[in-house]
Amino acid sequence: MVPGLDQGLGERAQARHLLGRLVQERLRVSQRPRALTGAGASAESGIPVFRGADGWWRNRRAEELATPEAFSRDPKTVWEWYDYRRDIIAKAKPNLCHEFLARMENIHPRWHTITQNVDGLHQRAGSSRVLELHGSIWQVRCTACDVDYEDERVPIPILPSCRTCGGLVRPGVVWFGESLPQDVLQRAFALAEDSDLFFVVGTSGVVEPAASLARVAKSAGAFVVEINPEPSALTPAADAFLQGKAGEVFERLLGLG
Ligand code: OAD
Repeated sequence: MVPGLDQGLGERAQARHLLGRLVQERLRVSQRPRALTGAGASAESGIPVFRGADGWWRNRRAEELATPEAFSRDPKTVWEWYDYRRDIIAKAKPNLCHEFLARMENIHPRWHTITQNVDGLHQRAGSSRVLELHGSIWQVRCTACDVDYEDERVPIPILPSCRTCGGLVRPGVVWFGESLPQDVLQRAFALAEDSDLFFVVGTSGVVEPAASLARVAKSAGAFVVEINPEPSALTPAADAFLQGKAGEVFERLLGLG
């Protein structure tokens, strides 16, 4: 037994407990709570995040595939990647993080979840006030006639054609270099500005404009809580950093006396 080491561990556990209690208290009194989620929120459902070791697919990175240029150069490969992700998502189940956020909607009438995820797992867990910043993997849009509609086929035929005009359809998600839907973006910024408690869950915080939402909330006076196993680009903006997997951290928060 090393007394110093043991004491250090005890102090860390106590500090974590106190921080958890502080966040729990903020949550109890919050009038305008929001959460911004990223790929890490779905990691415990088995959906690979974009950056880091599991972000590779056939030796390519998300940034090489999720672009309009990649799609015009090689739509087949891009669709194969989305088909692979659709298959994983269709088989996945919401995890404790999704369930916690859905439950918060029942407790807090003004709770909103803003997500960068396109997997629909927040809604499957029961959340109804969800803003999808980057669209949905279950939507498609025609490159010829621009109509968009839901297409939840797994596997999806490659290459899929438009049910209206027969043209090539593309995934209905926002790609790098594309603008986010203006109405969704405006509502997300309005929610961030009008927030007293802002959770940042499972995002590397490197993709704009989503990352700015946390800074906007902080400037507007919100208490910012980050949940992530690793520090991120948004950690400096956080008032409390709860280090760990989202599902586990939320479970601990619920369990704190
Ligand atoms: P990233 O893959 O960049 O980051 C995932 C984050 O989740 C990292 O900070 C991880 O440390 C964290 N993480 C991993 N497991 C976790 C867990 N169990 N609980 C909590 N956090 C965990 O994903 P995003 O930040 O969502 O955009 O990426 C932002 C955007 O870039 C995505 O929406 C997508 C992507 O490329 C487009 O496709 C346009």
